[in-house]
Amino acid sequence: PSFRDFLRCLPKCEHHMHLEGALTPHVLFVLAEKNNVTLPQDDEAFKSPEALLERYQRFTSLDDFLHYYYIGMSALVAAADFEALAWDYFQHASSDGVAHAEVFFDPQAHTSRGIKYTTVLEGFDTACKRAEKELGITTILTSCFLRHLPPKDCLELFEDEDLQESYKSGVVRAIGLDSSEKPFPPENFTELYTKAKALGLNLTAHAGEEGPASYISSALHNLGVTRIDHGIKLVDDQQLLEKIAAEKTMLTVCPLSNVVLRCVNTIKDVPIRKLLDAGVQFSINSDDPAYFGGYILDNYVAVHDAFKLSVQEWEGVVRAGIKGSWCDDDRKAELL
Ligand code: HPA
Ligand code: ZN
Repeated sequence: PSFRDFLRCLPKCEHHMHLEGALTPHVLFVLAEKNNVTLPQDDEAFKSPEALLERYQRFTSLDDFLHYYYIGMSALVAAADFEALAWDYFQHASSDGVAHAEVFFDPQAHTSRGIKYTTVLEGFDTACKRAEKELGITTILTSCFLRHLPPKDCLELFEDEDLQESYKSGVVRAIGLDSSEKPFPPENFTELYTKAKALGLNLTAHAGEEGPASYISSALHNLGVTRIDHGIKLVDDQQLLEKIAAEKTMLTVCPLSNVVLRCVNTIKDVPIRKLLDAGVQFSINSDDPAYFGGYILDNYVAVHDAFKLSVQEWEGVVRAGIKGSWCDDDRKAELL
């Protein structure tokens, strides 16, 4: 058996994937047609699914990607669209050997274009329950807030009764912060996170993907997050690196994403070895698999090809992922 097979068989947890990022150009075109959504006429990339896929190989930055990401999700309208999207992801995750998946979605990217939160959630939650039943994958849904929007708009949506209901019922068990990172520092969202914490939600935030290491410390101190999404800029701040290692705060690293969005030049520049040497806990994730050329196992294999981790090191990475998950202790014990 190949090393890929070894990696496939490990009980992997995925902590950083955006369900909207599982939308392939092919499905995007099919849904746009079905839902009568007009794609931009003035951009050659929308000529065909093939042209769009080709454009995805040439992202220049996070914002360049986000432009396509938000247009793409405009094709999602009905609950069944959201369900099919998430189910497609869970099937990939299952064949890659994912045991537990904590998945993001972006409520504001849908409510802002007139899609009801309950429609989005119905679709995603149905797929999660099906993944648990048919694939044996445990799941957690995380609602992310878009940091390029005014913090007061984020707060207002958080307080909406449909969102509150989803938090209180446990259908959504965490909040995150994503979208354009600079110049939108974490501390702008202190009030939102204080309220989410009061509800007992798990807290995470994207920080240190394109933004500086100071965004990571702000997310920790001002938002009270227990994990950092991306966090690769942590290696620019030795003191913070040591603190995060000591406190066992997990980073959710997305290697292929970092290369495709040009946060690093090559996979070898993702600071995997530095994090291992410093004793920082991290997991390896796909972020937006339909946009970045790979699902979770492709990310594991890319890291292995670049860094040649030992079997013991891989087992350590996977164990850190299980321990850093938000599932209950019984589920962790099953996976450990
Ligand atoms: N960063 C910020 N926002 C995002 C990302 C990301 O990597 N993917 C989807 N939304
Ligand atoms: Zn992300």
